Amino acid sequence: MAFTKSTLISLFTLAAVGTVGAAAQNPNCATGGGFVGHAFPFNRTSLPDDFIPCGGNCPPPSPFTLPIALPSDLFKGADVCCSTFTLTFNGRTAQGTYAYKSSSRAGTQNLALDEDLFDKLGGDVTIGELFPVKYCL
Ligand SMILES: *[C@@H]1O[C@H](CO)[C@@H](O)[C@H](O)[C@H]1NC(C)=O
Repeated sequence: MAFTKSTLISLFTLAAVGTVGAAAQNPNCATGGGFVGHAFPFNRTSLPDDFIPCGGNCPPPSPFTLPIALPSDLFKGADVCCSTFTLTFNGRTAQGTYAYKSSSRAGTQNLALDEDLFDKLGGDVTIGELFPVKYCL
């Protein structure tokens, strides 16, 4: 079987497009699905016992890097530790940074949000829960 030059170019183009698409987005986001869970506030100076750092050297909390705890089993690897992503609730959006794994949330899509981030989404820390919070990693 003989490949023509144009056949080879097509094959390389397909391979390149496939790679870029896979690297750019989590499959959950590509289908518009993402994750949906309950979000609860936490106090970053007094972390819950089940939190462990995700493993990276995350930026200090700032208005766009407020810490988030994800279920400890949501990521199998540490490659996305400290990534920043967007959360939406009831028409509001805010960005936060994945900084902790929460073992008590394993098996769910629930989040814990720094109180300032919880506040940005319109949450009341005295009530303490928002649902449905949507996010795409
Ligand atoms: C967060 O925890 C610290 C240390 O326990 C405490 O001093 C502070 O008042 C707490 N903040 C809130 C908003 O509860």
